[in-house]
Amino acid sequence: MNFTVIGLGYVGLVNAVILAVYRHDVIAYDTNKEKIALLKQGVATIEEPHLQELLSQVKDDIRFTSNASDAIRTNGYIVICVDTPAGKNGAPDMSHFYAALDAIAENASMDTMVVIRSTVPVGTNAATKVYLESKSPHKFDIISAPEFLSQGRAIYDVLNPARIVVGVRSEKARELTKRVLHGYIERKFKLFITTPENAELIKYASNGFLATKISYVNTLARLCDLVGGDIDDVAKGMALDPRIGPDFLKAGVGYGGSCFPKDTSGLCWISGSNSVPMKIIKAAMEVNESQIAYFLGKIYRRFRSLSGLKVAVLGLAYKAGTEDVRNSPAFPIIKALHERNAYVIAYDPLAIDNFHDVMARFTKIRYVDYPKDALKDADFAIILTDAEEFRKLTAKDFIGAMHSPVVFDGRNIYDLKDMQGVEYYSIGRPSVKPS
Ligand code: UDX
Repeated sequence: MNFTVIGLGYVGLVNAVILAVYRHDVIAYDTNKEKIALLKQGVATIEEPHLQELLSQVKDDIRFTSNASDAIRTNGYIVICVDTPAGKNGAPDMSHFYAALDAIAENASMDTMVVIRSTVPVGTNAATKVYLESKSPHKFDIISAPEFLSQGRAIYDVLNPARIVVGVRSEKARELTKRVLHGYIERKFKLFITTPENAELIKYASNGFLATKISYVNTLARLCDLVGGDIDDVAKGMALDPRIGPDFLKAGVGYGGSCFPKDTSGLCWISGSNSVPMKIIKAAMEVNESQIAYFLGKIYRRFRSLSGLKVAVLGLAYKAGTEDVRNSPAFPIIKALHERNAYVIAYDPLAIDNFHDVMARFTKIRYVDYPKDALKDADFAIILTDAEEFRKLTAKDFIGAMHSPVVFDGRNIYDLKDMQGVEYYSIGRPSVKPS
């Protein structure tokens, strides 16, 4: 089958590569010419496990282009994967999405099937049909197929989805969906075919629910800190109930990334504009925003002044396993350290370049190549992602390298019993003090 994928970020590039691996004929279109030039050479423009090797295999089978008239072909299915970042008042910024529709309307030369994988407000599927048909003499069938992949495991998620949700209006679209998915994934997965409106809502509803789970557990963690509880054990006990489950119950400095912050505010905006205030999601957002101040409070209570102190920051991405720094807690935390004249030495396995690009104006950060170089002579350390490299550090490593082994762990990655000899603060768990 023929596909044109529009927008080559995490969703689009991974989808284009997987479609090509499954021997579909793929055109991959993005307006960013530099990105297209790199992809043509077979260079993956994002870090994702196995993406580079798969791209190297299929690069000559995919036609990468930044030319819309080359991309919108006569007999293919068009898959829209452009980003819809948070815009004014939390509403999704749909400018890239409508630019994609303009490119389709201008260049389509026959009736066309369009698949929306971007996260878009409810009603977009219907509005897309009206918009395209007002600008083009052809008919358009629109499928809503939101993507649920997580960064850092995008290839795995696309190949092993927990569920595939597809919103269709026509029988033709329903048949196409079954045909595409039949050849594409042999493994077991749950295919749920519903209306476009439901599919659009399912994406926001899922991300809103997961974000709420995190904020709920972070609020419980604050309670644990006050009453002498241990949030990891509380979460473990809750997770034994299959109605609750173990996922997204990890307390920490809060959620970041490109999805949860924008999708929670997008859901509030959608429901607010329909006069259904989404108070639960608002509360989840407020907890998340204050979680960083809560974490910093632990540091300020321990050190009256941070002036001149050397701080090791381990983890700059919004989570482990990605180079993405969008909405990373490292930004507000490092800014707060700067305001108090601390000196930061930072390390991340993947995200240093991206972080540096955004933080360039701060001269007081030194980036190093290994976690232990960051810890060397530090007055205290802050852990902001649960990267495997950080998990491997032991109490001995902190004690041996640091000026004073004081660690603030924003991801609760160490067992308390393994931190003997370190002054160790985490979230919602008792502190460990050297005897
Ligand atoms: C998320 C959704 O999981 C995915 O389905 C959707 O398509 C896009 O948004 P992603 O943002 O890539 O994916 O990462 P995810 O692993 O879900 O983590 C999101 C944030 O929540 C990260 O900042 C992570 O550190 C945080 N998190 C996650 C917690 O703080 N605690 C948890 O228990 C889980």
